[in-house]
Amino acid sequence: MNILEIIAKKRDKKQLNREEIDFFIKGYTCGKIADYQAASFIMAIFLNGMTEEEITNLTLAMANSGEILDLSSLNKIIVDKHSTGGVGDKVSLILLPLVASLGVPVAKMSGRGLGFTGGTVDKLESIPGYKTDIEINDFINNVRKHGISMISQTMDLAPADKKIYNLRSSISCVESMPLIASSIMSKKIASGAEKIVLDVTVGSGAFMKNQSDAEILANEMIKIGKLVNRETICILTNMNEPLGYAVGNTLEVIEAINALRGEISEDVKEVVLELGAYMIKLAGLGDNIENNKNKMIKNLENGEAYKKFLELVENQGGDISYIENTEKFEKAKYIEQVISNKKGFISSIDAEKIGKLACYLGAGRIKKEDSIQNEVGIILNKKVGDKIEIGEVLGVIHSNSNGKMIEAKKEFLDIVKISKENTKKVNTILKIM
Ligand code: URA
Repeated sequence: MNILEIIAKKRDKKQLNREEIDFFIKGYTCGKIADYQAASFIMAIFLNGMTEEEITNLTLAMANSGEILDLSSLNKIIVDKHSTGGVGDKVSLILLPLVASLGVPVAKMSGRGLGFTGGTVDKLESIPGYKTDIEINDFINNVRKHGISMISQTMDLAPADKKIYNLRSSISCVESMPLIASSIMSKKIASGAEKIVLDVTVGSGAFMKNQSDAEILANEMIKIGKLVNRETICILTNMNEPLGYAVGNTLEVIEAINALRGEISEDVKEVVLELGAYMIKLAGLGDNIENNKNKMIKNLENGEAYKKFLELVENQGGDISYIENTEKFEKAKYIEQVISNKKGFISSIDAEKIGKLACYLGAGRIKKEDSIQNEVGIILNKKVGDKIEIGEVLGVIHSNSNGKMIEAKKEFLDIVKISKENTKKVNTILKIM
């Protein structure tokens, strides 16, 4: 068996067996298979898809490419959360300290930005001092002591996913059901959680553009979860417009801090409460979804969730004076408003286009080795359905380049669509599976 035969088989739309998938995963993880060969193989999967059996074999091979974390010493039911990705998705930053403040232990391994979507690790690293790459033992000890730890994917856990994830982002192979399902579920299996709540995003700013594709992805992940005895719940959420108001790493952290202090936008709140209520239920801390939501609202209002976030940041080396005073965060060189030249109602704000615009400003990567600019991004001033007058502020662009600022303002004005009639708002929570 060699990698050329395996690439050719997938290229020719033939089904791969378990040995061939294992051969690729082992070879790529240890560096025997080159990036360009892996890129070709991943592109063949992207174009030709995979059968259910292939997806399962790929997921298990990726999960077993490193250690499988044993969290049993915590003596608690560990519930993990993951999102299939979105634009302005700062849910983990709010939800995880919030549920931790209610006694749900959080052991979370997050990712970096992928394609046009942001990643929680990049956002956490915009907090000066915050360490995302701590040792596994410290990770477990933090969960034991503080009830929460949020880290990046270490090379010990699902290393094959870490390599493939970075590669996919730089070869335009992100929006693929088999690659997303195996990426997410391999990480979740390796990070040891018994129960899993997944935010499966749907719409222009998601990798699944319509609900039926999102349901296929959700069903696949639920099936893999069953196979490895990890109860998995998928919540389908709307990602047609960016979630909340901020897009960009530091800007989203600031929005999350404000949310934890009780100032939370309606759409972010709905997603946080729905996912959290199921996390609390799966953790065995409350069967009633509405009661769970009420407990969460209380901890957002009484400061307990915010306190837990401070504890998390401090414990991972972050400078909490930035959290206490968000004015301290470094700002982009140019910050300018975009003014509306029309009146009416906002009818659409294409999330994918906004995500790409944020990447253009420097918030995301084109090549996997690229560095990012934490302080750049976009703040929406209006959401779909809001009324707008001529001369009112539509949004604010944060850029480190004047040339990019000029381009971005033009592009933003084009992305935000305004109509005379008000359009019906789409629900934020689309389906629970
Ligand atoms: N999140 C992941 O971890 N992997 C994907 O492929 C998409 C979102």
